[in-house]
Amino acid sequence: MSAIENAIEVKNLNKSFRKSVFEKSKHILKNVSFDIPKNKTTGFVGNNGSGKTTSIKCIFEFIFKDSGDVKFFNQEMGPAVRRRIGYLPERPYLYEFLTAEEFLKFHLSLSGIHLQGAALNALIDETLHKVGLLEAKKKALRSFSKGMLQRAGLAQALIHKPEILILDEPMSGLDPDGRLMVKDILREEKKKGITIFFSSHLLQDMEELCDHLVAIHGGEIIYNSDLKSFMSQFPSLEEAFRSKQKEVQK
Ligand SMILES: Nc1ncnc2c1ncn2[C@@H]1O[C@H](COP(=O)(O)OP(=O)(O)OP(=O)(O)O)[C@@H](O)[C@H]1O
Ligand SMILES: [Mg+2]
Repeated sequence: MSAIENAIEVKNLNKSFRKSVFEKSKHILKNVSFDIPKNKTTGFVGNNGSGKTTSIKCIFEFIFKDSGDVKFFNQEMGPAVRRRIGYLPERPYLYEFLTAEEFLKFHLSLSGIHLQGAALNALIDETLHKVGLLEAKKKALRSFSKGMLQRAGLAQALIHKPEILILDEPMSGLDPDGRLMVKDILREEKKKGITIFFSSHLLQDMEELCDHLVAIHGGEIIYNSDLKSFMSQFPSLEEAFRSKQKEVQK
């Protein structure tokens, strides 16, 4: 049997939204197809409203797709697959009455990991330390700043040591130190062989971190291949992306 090269394969994803029963539905994702190569870092780039979050939600089955097929390591999504993924939503729902420690314990149990005692404490401390929140371990999430909440969201995506990380704008709301921290974490996870897929508007960060690039424009995939080839004629990802957009708008 040949080795699986892609951690995730997305084929012909379509999604429409209807604001009310009186309105016509709007076709948001138009035959979206792309691959997320195993053990690599893939960036997901596109303007506001281009369909990044909708694609991620459909892939993760947070919302129903109208049609299309998504495979994870050649399997359909299900509880076993879900446990192998760490997911940071664009707007994480955080239970604000919980402390950071309780929040992570809750997420671990949702992932089917039932550690106790010293092993549980060590894992929680290690994860909070990684995202720079160890000192806030006993504090309720309602007292957290925006950046601290983003760090807590990242901690829940990492705590069960997933094989795939799907992160919708992981740097959002973070100060320069926080952004550096996320970049260090992503580099470290990649070194361990973790497959990473993240969306961002920070193209400089994406350029530094990614091997593969998926670009979306108006709900259509306009690029799905390695980042170096995408940038080959340009000094920066920003310029390469602008040029690609102009080309498809013609
Ligand atoms: N629940 C919904 N109901 C109706 N329209 C929606 C819904 N969710 C998203 N949309 C629409 O789908 C389109 C794509 O939105 P999406 O959130 O996927 O964009 P995005 O690429 O993630 O943008 P951003 O960079 O701003 O996060 C937008 O036009 C948005 O208004
Ligand atoms: Mg989004």
